[in-house]
Amino acid sequence: GDRAGSGGARPTVVDVAHRGASAYAPENTLAAIDEAEARGAGTVEVDVQRTKDGELVLVHDTDLVRTTDVESVFPDRESYAVADFTLAEIRRLDAGSWFDAAYAGEPVPTLQEGLDRLREHRLNLLLEVKSPELYPGIEEQIASTLKDNPWWLAPARPHRAHRLVIQSFDWDSVETSHRILPRIPHGLLGVVPEDEIADYAEWADQINPSHTRIDADYVDAVHDAGLETYVYTVNEPADMRAAIAKGVDGIISDYPDVLRKVIAEE
Ligand code: G3P
Ligand code: CA
Repeated sequence: GDRAGSGGARPTVVDVAHRGASAYAPENTLAAIDEAEARGAGTVEVDVQRTKDGELVLVHDTDLVRTTDVESVFPDRESYAVADFTLAEIRRLDAGSWFDAAYAGEPVPTLQEGLDRLREHRLNLLLEVKSPELYPGIEEQIASTLKDNPWWLAPARPHRAHRLVIQSFDWDSVETSHRILPRIPHGLLGVVPEDEIADYAEWADQINPSHTRIDADYVDAVHDAGLETYVYTVNEPADMRAAIAKGVDGIISDYPDVLRKVIAEE
C-alpha cells in the first residue's frame, strides 16, 4: 500500500533485532542486547517468562535445556521447565557457552536487567510474552514492573518507532495486557484471518506474522483496519527487500546490521 500519507516522508521500516542480535551473540542475554546496539539496531525483541519464585526472566524456550547448561548443573531434575527453577538456581546457569565459548558465564537476565540495559543504549523494546498460559497473572506482573520503570510507558513521539510494544501468540493474553496498559501498543503474533482483522483492531495495534505467511494484499488489509504489521524472522536480504515491498511497518531479524543496510538502501 501507499503509506506516504498527507504531507510527510514515508515512514521508514522499524528494524528489530530478534532475541537481541541473536546471530552474533546468545539469544535473550544482555550480550545480545549489547550486540544489537553495536550493530545499529533500533529495537530489540526479547521473550519474557516467570521463575518458580515469581521472577520475570528473559528466555525463549519454556525449558532451559537448549540455551543453558542446566542439565549438567542440575543432573537429577525431572523437569527443566523455567517455571520449576528459582531465580537463584537459574543464576547458576551459563546461558552463553552453548552459543560460543567467548560468552561463557553469560547469565539468564531478569526483565528488569533487560529494561535497564536497553534504556542505557536508548534501544526500543518489542516484548514477547512467551507461553503466558503457563504463568497466570504474568500480564499484571509485567505491567507492574513497567510501572516501576515509567520511562518505558512514555507516549510515542511522532515519526519515531514505538519505545515499547507488547506482543504474544496468545491473543487472550494480549487483550488482557492491553486492558492493563491501554496506552501501550500491543501486537498479535501470527496470522489473523482477514475477515477478523476489524474485530481485533478494536484493541490491538499490530498483527505480526511470519514473513512467509503474508502478501501485499494482507498488509493492505491490516493497514486499512488502522493497524501495523511487523514480520518475523527475516534473515536473508532478498526476503527483507520483499517484506519492504509488501509494505510492512517493521522487520524482525537475527541480523540487525544486514537489516539496517537493506532498509537504508530502500
Ligand atoms: O517476534 C517474533 C518472533 O520472536 C516470534 O517467534 O519463536 O522467535 O519467539 P519466536
Ligand atoms: Ca520471540
